[in-house]
Amino acid sequence: MPERKAYSQAFNTGRYEKVTGLFGKYDNVRRLWEDQITSIFLRPHLNNLVDYKKKRLERLRILDLGCGAADGYDLIMGVTTKDPGIYEYVTAAITDDMLKRYVGVDVNEDLLRQAREYLGDNSKTEFIQADLTQGLPPEILRDQAPFDFYFSSYGTLSHFHHDECVKIFCDICEHTSEYALVMADWLGRYSYEWQDLWHEPADREVFMDYRISYIFPEEERGEANITSFPLRLMSRDEVMSIINEASRICGVDIKPLAFFDRSLFVGRHLETGDYNRHPLKHRSTVNSLFEHYVRTDLERLLTDYQPRPGFDHLNTFFESFFMCCNTLVTHTISLLSGYDAQSGEFSETPEIQPYYPPPLKEAMHSMKRVIKGVGWLEWGDVRANVIEPHLGFSLRKMEMDLQTGSGFGHGLVGIFEIRK
Ligand SMILES: C[S@@+](CC[C@H](N)C(=O)[O-])C[C@H]1O[C@@H](n2cnc3c(N)ncnc32)[C@H](O)[C@@H]1O
Repeated sequence: MPERKAYSQAFNTGRYEKVTGLFGKYDNVRRLWEDQITSIFLRPHLNNLVDYKKKRLERLRILDLGCGAADGYDLIMGVTTKDPGIYEYVTAAITDDMLKRYVGVDVNEDLLRQAREYLGDNSKTEFIQADLTQGLPPEILRDQAPFDFYFSSYGTLSHFHHDECVKIFCDICEHTSEYALVMADWLGRYSYEWQDLWHEPADREVFMDYRISYIFPEEERGEANITSFPLRLMSRDEVMSIINEASRICGVDIKPLAFFDRSLFVGRHLETGDYNRHPLKHRSTVNSLFEHYVRTDLERLLTDYQPRPGFDHLNTFFESFFMCCNTLVTHTISLLSGYDAQSGEFSETPEIQPYYPPPLKEAMHSMKRVIKGVGWLEWGDVRANVIEPHLGFSLRKMEMDLQTGSGFGHGLVGIFEIRK
């Protein structure tokens, strides 16, 4: 029967899989919050790199360390040159014609197979199975031309000890030519997600027993036999100690360009409570904010922050951060409840105090303008499809503006340049 064959053929492309933004590795938060924050911090440095290459009449070569299923390819190629105006067509920082080669290295053959299936038709991509514990493998050091961008994402470098990271940086310095950009991604040491681990001595390497438990539905987590593995938790000081040592050993300047904390508000383990006795449903709630035609209970975004005695500095930071988020959420709830769709006005406008931190004031003003601007629309569920995603973007913007790049989020990312 041709119908049967046609449906089977379509199914076997893999494009019939039920994709949902509400859970899984590629949930809405990963794509619309975490990838985007990373792209925004990366943007100015990638733009400079592309300009540098263009002036030399050269194209870019990219190495993705711990590439997994080649997620870095989409992230890097998705970076835009700027926040486009409303009338502009978005332009990629690296247009297809400027990419010379993307090489991914990973130890896991299953993930590499997924990467090859995903990008196998793209002749500019190549995947190599290798263990990075001893630094860059010979297949790279010996067989590959220098890269312009040495990239890692989503905690990959947390798989390695201090000395192993130093070796990776030294190998990069040796392998690159005159100039390269490096993005290095670890797990943050003081995320609220793993508050139970904050007490580990600051002068010792700390590896947590990491479980990918969040991938299972809550009711199955207890039953599932989840394998754990060690991942290193990092502060900015610990990153700088790696960089300084690598720089001293190989005699090459490694300059930090930016540090940022990613996912203070939506880290995956906030939800599981595996390493914090006060779990929060923030990730699934923000996934719902971003999901079309799904309305969200906004009160689930409120945080009752539980300080941990003996950590005043961290408690002060998180108290203030979560209070800003709570204030934006309650502001939004009261705007929505006081909005009259007939007149397009609010019955009362909640106060915005002049002493609030500027990112909070900006976010509160933007919520008001968005609700006033679109609240009257009667079709297309404007709350679920426009207002709630905007609350998600506002919380994301506040996280970006209030974070300090010290290791207080799920991810701690450093962007560096190497000049020889
Ligand atoms: C947190 S995942 C990140 C994957 C991917 N880059 C992403 O953005 O989702 C870490 C990756 O590092 C890889 N990895 C772990 N240890 C490694 C090693 N010793 N050598 C090479 N890759 C390794 C894992 O297989 C995994 O794909």
